[in-house]
Amino acid sequence: MRSVKDHVSPIESARAKASARQDWDAECYARNARFVSDLGGPVAELLRPVSGLRVLDLGCGDGALTEQLAAEGADIVAIDASASQVSAARARGLDARIRDARRLDFENEFDAVFSNAALHWISPPEAVIEGVARALKPGGRFVGEFGGEGNVETVRRALISALNARGYDGAAADPWFFPSDEGYRDMLQAGGFLVDSIELIPRPTSIPGDLGDWIRTLAGSFLAVASEAQRDAVISDVRSAVRDSLQRPDGGWSVDYVRLRFAARLA
Ligand code: BEZ
Repeated sequence: MRSVKDHVSPIESARAKASARQDWDAECYARNARFVSDLGGPVAELLRPVSGLRVLDLGCGDGALTEQLAAEGADIVAIDASASQVSAARARGLDARIRDARRLDFENEFDAVFSNAALHWISPPEAVIEGVARALKPGGRFVGEFGGEGNVETVRRALISALNARGYDGAAADPWFFPSDEGYRDMLQAGGFLVDSIELIPRPTSIPGDLGDWIRTLAGSFLAVASEAQRDAVISDVRSAVRDSLQRPDGGWSVDYVRLRFAARLA
């Protein structure tokens, strides 16, 4: 069997290392990022109806969306790499397990694999696609949504600049994989999938609190390379750099999200 290492380019390896520096705290996530599962309606719609389906939820977070699908009659296994998130998902009564999505060990078990707002954290993507294909029954579906090309680009650039300005390699701290629709279509097809639909959807998103809270909750991999003493200054630089583009007249923030939404099935 091929190992994850067989796939890994230097960029993917840097992304994987950066992603490992992201710390997930379920309580902090619930406070600052509840909108992530709240906005998962359209991709869940692509999966429906789910009653009676055996589904793997890949990157379930705290299980808020998984719980909805389970309530609709799906028989769901939920996985996430974060122990804190898995524990929050278990508290909802879900069958949630700590797993690395690059090393899935399921075989021919699921009618569908579902994923919301997780795949951009996981490199190399080919290893994920390979494991998903193995986990599905013949004809099984892979339905998901994650950050696509241009996602959170204004904040991402500002984070890289703020780190570069302090002598760090900002690009090497970047954990995110935001592919184009054509790029991800090619990957799915190379992994044995027929792609029924795939599209990039710009979705500027109002966030619940200050941009600094968003950065601390969702962009911790960037902050992790700076010293503790410099982190507030990094955030302050980013706020200043993006204010004109992303701050609303009422003082709140709208981040330039772009979703990549797709539905595929095993050929
Ligand atoms: C996203 O869901 O697109 C996303 C979440 C956190 C950081 C960056 C992107």
